[in-house]
Amino acid sequence: RQLVTGRRADGKINNKVSPEVPKVVTKEDLEAGAKKVYCRCWLSGTFPLCDGAHAKHNDETGDNVGPLIVSVKKS
Ligand code: FES
Repeated sequence: RQLVTGRRADGKINNKVSPEVPKVVTKEDLEAGAKKVYCRCWLSGTFPLCDGAHAKHNDETGDNVGPLIVSVKKS
C-alpha cells in the first residue's frame, strides 16, 4: 500500500476494522489490577487488542508503532 505521511494515499488509516460504521469506538471498564494491551496500528486480528502484528509491520516498513498498555492499580 502506498503511504503518504503515515497514511494511505486515499487518506485512510483503518483498512479493515468495522468498515461499515462511521467511527470505530471501544469502551471498556477495567477492574482494579487489570492490564490490557491495545492496538494502535490498526493491523491486529484481535482489534482493539494488540496481537503483535505491529512487529511485522515495523520490520517491513521501518515504522515504529506499538501498542497502548493500560493497567489499573489496586487501591
Ligand atoms: Fe497493532 Fe500491536 S497489533 S499495536
